[in-house]
Amino acid sequence: MAASPRQDYDFRANTNPSDPFSKVPPMSLAAAPRRCLAVILAAGEGKRMCSDMPKVLHRVGGRSMLAHVLAATAEAGATAVAVVVGPERADVAAEARSVRPEARIFEQRDRRGTAHAVLAARECLEEGWDEVLVAFADTPLVTAETFGRMRDSLAAGNVVTALGFEARDPTGYGRLVLQDGAFVAIREHKDATGDERRITLCNAGLMGLSGARAIELLSGIRDDNAQGEFYLTDAVAEARRLGLPVGIVKAGETEVMGVNDRAQLAAAEAVFQNRMRATAMRDGATLTAPETVYFSHDTRLGRDVTVEPNVVFGPGVSVADGAVIHAFSHLEGATVRQGASVGPFARLRPGADLGPEARVGNFVEVKNAQLEAGAKVNHLTYIGDARVGEGANIGAGTITCNYDGFGKYRTTIGKGAFVGSNSSLVAPVTIGDGAYVGSGSVVTKDVPADALAVARARQSIIAGWAEAFRRRMRSAKSS
Ligand code: UD1
Ligand code: CA
Repeated sequence: MAASPRQDYDFRANTNPSDPFSKVPPMSLAAAPRRCLAVILAAGEGKRMCSDMPKVLHRVGGRSMLAHVLAATAEAGATAVAVVVGPERADVAAEARSVRPEARIFEQRDRRGTAHAVLAARECLEEGWDEVLVAFADTPLVTAETFGRMRDSLAAGNVVTALGFEARDPTGYGRLVLQDGAFVAIREHKDATGDERRITLCNAGLMGLSGARAIELLSGIRDDNAQGEFYLTDAVAEARRLGLPVGIVKAGETEVMGVNDRAQLAAAEAVFQNRMRATAMRDGATLTAPETVYFSHDTRLGRDVTVEPNVVFGPGVSVADGAVIHAFSHLEGATVRQGASVGPFARLRPGADLGPEARVGNFVEVKNAQLEAGAKVNHLTYIGDARVGEGANIGAGTITCNYDGFGKYRTTIGKGAFVGSNSSLVAPVTIGDGAYVGSGSVVTKDVPADALAVARARQSIIAGWAEAFRRRMRSAKSS
């Protein structure tokens, strides 16, 4: 607690109506936050993926499409989530719970349309929500901002909000039908007339529903259409029939793209990667050739980070201000601290933690190891299950021998130690602070601080041996 309560005052958090410093207008103080439920449809079979894995578990930016949708709806303020899965899809349920442990799972036994799928979560819909966001787990690029605009449209009084986009080729999509400027219905392509098929404003599929009206609207939907399905899209005409207002929120075509096959998965990945690159650059990283850098959904880059061409970030990487990732490096589960330098051609595996100004050079692999400030591992080295002390220097070709086929063992290298080239450090082993290891050593015993360890055969010299050898061999060959 600050000594004075006003000193570090954050007015954004101040919602206390009796506080004269409150910046929140009195009207909104009276209104409780609107309760929002996300219903995520994930019951698709995804046949066109030709995969043993359910479609929605395929990954974009290193996490499942389902997880993207769970994250975006949560970020838009959906405090609860219901996930509708196909029969016996424990894998999809487990993925949902890994992202949002409180997710409620509902099974849709027969696929009878999108409205039928939403009603599978009826039990949850009945709990009294202000807003319901229906999202598709195979449409992974919709942003929290767009879900937020759908919520705004519901908050403004619309009982149904469709998400529309201008399609380059509207074939196959539902069309948003307007009459005299008023939104009256969504017509599925298969049910549409010739005139309606000329409409280019299409339905992305996701929809916002008034929580108070959702069950009533969904229950009124029938399956008398070309596909004999209960269309969620008919909620619009149903609302109009009841004289209730409906709205449209628009988004760009790429944002609402659905994934049905591997080519579309790759297209979604490309869009996602471009977003990550743009965000990294906006936040102050230099990407020399952005189109060649691949991010994970959770990659974090600080200010004035430089990433050279052809770098791949797997999940769980953070790179602090001023660090440089040189070309052709691969990082995963790694922390790179301020001013550190990685690569070219370096591999940082999970648990690699590079201290400030540490250097990891070409053809170096680091796994589950801490390099403290200013430590240098510059060439052709494997550092695994280890700690390398501040300012230590690890020579070319050094290997920590951390594995004996059964267990993993740790190597500890002290502050300011110097390990000569081509040494094998057989773990568990400790090199003391300031110690030296002679090149080519196989170190199996601890080295005390400031000592020199030499663990290799002694060099012997036989003067004139080579000349005598050549003479003997030449005469043997000529006779
Ligand atoms: C839907 C929309 C259409 C829109 C299009 C955008 C309806 C009736 N139509 O059509 O207006 O232009 O999306 O791509 O909503 N699902 C279930 N259970 C079901 C049926 C569907 O979980 O019984 C899920 C699917 O897995 C998918 C989503 O709902 O994630 C959409 O279903 P899909 O059959 O692809 O709808 P479309 O015909 O594409
Ligand atoms: Ca679809």
